[in-house]
Order: sequence, then C-alpha cells, then structure tokens
Amino acid sequence: MLSERLEADSLEELEQLLEGCQRCPLWSDRSNLVFGSGSRDAQLMFIGEAPGRAEDAKGLPFVGPAGRLLDDLLAGIGLTRSEVYITNVVKCRPPGNRDPLPEEMEACHPFLARQIELIEPKIVCALGRVAAGSLLGKTVQMSRIHGTRLNGDGYFVVPVFHPAAALRTPSSMSALEEDFRNLKKYLQQEEVAPKTVSREEPEQLELF
Ligand code: URA
Repeated sequence: MLSERLEADSLEELEQLLEGCQRCPLWSDRSNLVFGSGSRDAQLMFIGEAPGRAEDAKGLPFVGPAGRLLDDLLAGIGLTRSEVYITNVVKCRPPGNRDPLPEEMEACHPFLARQIELIEPKIVCALGRVAAGSLLGKTVQMSRIHGTRLNGDGYFVVPVFHPAAALRTPSSMSALEEDFRNLKKYLQQEEVAPKTVSREEPEQLELF
C-alpha cells in the first residue's frame, strides 16, 4: 500500500497528529481514539484489527476479554504488556464491531506505518486475518500461515489467530498458544529481517 509519510519524530508527535482525526467516517461514533500502548523500545509489537466497545470507552487497546487472553498468552512466554507495544490497524471503533473497510484501513495506514518505523520492532505479530492482510498487503488464509515467520520491511511478520477467535474456537486456542511459543523462539533468534528502502534513502540519493 503506498501511503503518505507523516512528519512525526516521536510517538507523542504522531499521536498529536491524530488528535481530532476525521480522515474516515469512523470518527463520528467514537468516544476515544485508540492510538496504542506499551514500550517504545519493544522488540515485539502486536497489531490487532480495531478497537471494540471496551477499547473505545477507555482509549486503550485490548482491554476487553480478548485483551485478558492476550495478557495470559504474554505471561505464558514470560512477557508483560509493558515490555511489548500493542496497537490496531484502525484507531477508531467500527460500528457493531464489523471489520474495518478498505478505505478506513487506508486512511489509518500512515499512522500504523510510522508507529512501526518509530518503534523498530524485531517482530510484528499480526493478531488475526485483518491485521495480517494489512501488513502483508494481500488476502491471507490464516489456517495456512499462522505461526510462520515472514519477511516484513526490516521486521518479521508473524500472523496468529485473533484472541477473540480463539475464545470462540478451542482448536484456534491451542494453535494460538503454540504460535506464542514460536514467537518466543523467533525473538531469541539473532537473525533480523532485511530492509528494502529506508525512509532517509531517497533524499540521500538525490545528492549524487
Ligand atoms: N480486538 C482488536 O482487534 N483490537 C482491540 O484493541 C480489541 C479487540
């Protein structure tokens, strides 16, 4: 996805740029925008789909039932929320918890892209089909790719089932637990994902 570059040198500046956002119609129903939370130095970043009712009420990601499962899964691999960074593909709640529309994801994409650039995680874990599709730029079949380590742009993308799906389907729950064990293994590996073009590179090239 080709997207606008946002001039923000910190997460705080980026969050300020989002203040009062009306780039897509989701602004009209929101109580709170949900920017993201956690460590700005996180090696592991989680990207969900969109805020739900609880997240919209609190302005924080994954604070409902799916979030409690995420906390347990993190604890299972020796991590806490404060050591990772958690955000969503879109920062405002879609009505009735429907999937975000392509134009809503596109409007929010520059913010997600800059969040990833600023945090520079080693691994971006896509929680569910919508996040995986957005990060990989194509429709994905979660049953085929979950738990695998794929190349993103300077980070690895690891798609896993969405915790809300695992709460509904016992077979997804055991897959999700196993995929978190894989996440821990990937974090311990030395290898880093290749980067294609850096944000600074085009300007530097113009000098020569
Ligand atoms: N589901 C998501 O995808 N994101 C949240 O923040 C909460 C639930």
